[in-house]
Amino acid sequence: MDKKVLVAYQSKYGATRQYAAWIAEELGAELRERKNVKPSELGEYDCVVYGGGLYAGDVLGADLVAKVACKNMVLFTVGLADPAITDYSEILSKNFPQKMRKSLKVFHFRGSIDYKKLSLVHRIMMSVMKRMTVGRKKSEEWTEEEKLFVGTYGNQVDFTDRSSITPLVEYVCELTQKKALRDGDD
Ligand SMILES: Cc1cc2nc3c(=O)[nH]c(=O)nc-3n(C[C@H](O)[C@H](O)[C@H](O)COP(=O)(O)O)c2cc1C
Repeated sequence: MDKKVLVAYQSKYGATRQYAAWIAEELGAELRERKNVKPSELGEYDCVVYGGGLYAGDVLGADLVAKVACKNMVLFTVGLADPAITDYSEILSKNFPQKMRKSLKVFHFRGSIDYKKLSLVHRIMMSVMKRMTVGRKKSEEWTEEEKLFVGTYGNQVDFTDRSSITPLVEYVCELTQKKALRDGDD
């Protein structure tokens, strides 16, 4: 791929880093951790793919891309929730201004968790979330998301799936090829 593509990411336990590495490999793109990228550098790329792990409704490191007007911006999130049954609109409106959401192409992938490796703060957060779910509602009233959360609580689970990145990779390829054609037309 001759166009300059950056894959940037922020990951706490490694699932987002894994997706970012797979995507960068398939696109032949530059791979960089969010902390090593300055917002002012994003304009140098024809396309920026940003990936952030989901933590209590926040996209890790989203501030890198939330304030910068970049030509072709693609976002991916990595969380435990099943994208097929999850509504991400609240997360997106919390993390990105409305103006940006209109042009932002978004993909959602499934991550992993190992409760034994969680930081103390994260273990406490998960325990509070569990008490809120179990304590507030009867199990028959749990949403699919809540069932998944309670079912995986305390365990090690890994939903990462390399094949799920294909739509994103194809989208970026098409985007950059289209640009290349447009460039040729100028
Ligand atoms: C404290 C905490 C909060 C989380 N909040 C969410 C969430 O809001 N939505 C979700 O889908 N997954 C959530 N998860 C699961 C993580 O997104 C998942 O483990 C993901 O793989 C993390 O990415 P990373 O491994 O790159 O850090 C949460 C996990 C922890 C420990």
